[in-house]
Amino acid sequence: MTRPLPDVLRIEWPAAAPEPPAATLAALDRAAEVLRSGRLVAIPTETVYGLAADALDEFAVDAIFRAKGRPATNPLIVHVADAAMAKSLAGSWPAAAEAITTALWPGPLTVVVPRGTEIPEIVTAGGPTVALRCPEHRLTRLLIARSGIPLAAPSANRSERVSPTTAHHVLEGLGNRVDLILDGGACAKGIESTVVDCTVSPPRILRPGPLTRAELEAALGGPVAGPEAASATADSGPARSPGTQTRHYAPRTRLELRADAAAHVAAHLDQGRRVGWLTTRGADPAVRALAANRDLVIVPMPDDPAGFAAAIYAALHALDQRGLDRIVVDEPPAAEEWLAVRDRLRRAAS
Ligand code: TXA
Ligand code: MG
Repeated sequence: MTRPLPDVLRIEWPAAAPEPPAATLAALDRAAEVLRSGRLVAIPTETVYGLAADALDEFAVDAIFRAKGRPATNPLIVHVADAAMAKSLAGSWPAAAEAITTALWPGPLTVVVPRGTEIPEIVTAGGPTVALRCPEHRLTRLLIARSGIPLAAPSANRSERVSPTTAHHVLEGLGNRVDLILDGGACAKGIESTVVDCTVSPPRILRPGPLTRAELEAALGGPVAGPEAASATADSGPARSPGTQTRHYAPRTRLELRADAAAHVAAHLDQGRRVGWLTTRGADPAVRALAANRDLVIVPMPDDPAGFAAAIYAALHALDQRGLDRIVVDEPPAAEEWLAVRDRLRRAAS
C-alpha cells in the first residue's frame, strides 16, 4: 500500500491582526496532533523549511533520520518557543548563550550548549551537547508554545540536496515521507541559521549563516571565533560541527562557481551544452550579449548578500528541474557579509 501525499495547510497571520485566523489555529492544532502521535510535520521558519518531530520522542526523531536518509552521526537542531524552553532543555546555560540569545532570539541563530537529561541521545548523535534555536517565524513559535512540544527539525530535504524555501519544494523533495506540510510562505532569509558553539571560549561559529560574526560579537561584547577552525576537521566522523560535510546543499545538475563566469558560460555554449547561469551582473554588456542564446537560461540575482541568500535555493530548485547540463554561478565577493553564501555555493559546487 502506498502512502498518500501529505496535506499542505496554508497558515497565515496578517500583520495587523491581533491573532491568527481560525483556519490557521485549526491547522496548528492539527499539526500538534500529528506531532503528538509521533509523526512528521514540515514547518516554515525564516531560514528554510524544517522537517519536525517531537524532540523528546526518540522514535519520532528516528523517523526524521529515515525520511531524510540522514546519517545518524549528524545531530539535529531543537526548536523552542522561547529562551525559557531552551534553558529547560540545556544541561547548563553558558553566559555566552545568554548574551547572544537575549540579543538575537527569536532569529536565525542556533546555540550549541550542554545537553539536558531530557533530550534523547538520537537528537545529539550521542554527543554531550544540544543545538537549540528559537525561530523568528511567529506561527512556528506559536505551534511550539501551544503544543508544548520542542521540535527537532533539520532542513526538510533529502540528505545532501538543496534545502527547501517553499512548501512546494518540501512536497517535491520529500513527497509522502512527510505526514503534513504547513505552508507559511517563502522563507525570508533563505539559508540555514548561524550555528554557534557556546561550550568553548571564545564561542565559535560552526556554520556561517544569516547572522554575521560582527553581529554576534556586538551581541556578546567580545570576540567570536570564525568557522575556519571547525571546518578543518568536519569531514572526519562526529566532529564538533558534524553537519558540515563538504558535499551538502547540492543540486543534481553539476554546479560551477566561477570568477570568469561569462567566458565560462560562452565556452559551454560553444560545446553545445545547455546552461543555467545565476548572475548578479545581468546589466553587464557581456551578459546581455549571451542572453539571446536558446541554450542559456539567465537567472538575475540580487547583488546584496541578504537578497542573494533569500533567492539562491529557489533559483537552484528551479534550474534543477530543467535538465540542464550545467549551472554556473558568479563567484561572490570575498567580503565577510558574503561568507555564508560563499559557504553554501562552495558546497553545492563540490
Ligand atoms: O536554519 C536552520 O538551522 C534550519 C531550520 C529548519 O531551523 N535547520 C537546519 O538543520 O539547517 P540541519 O539539520 O540541516 O543542520 C543542523 C546543523 C548541522 O550542521 C548539524 O551538524 C549542526 O547543526 N548541529 C546540530 N546539533 C549539533 C551539536 N550538538 N553540536 C554541533 N553541531 C550541531
Ligand atoms: Mg540541512
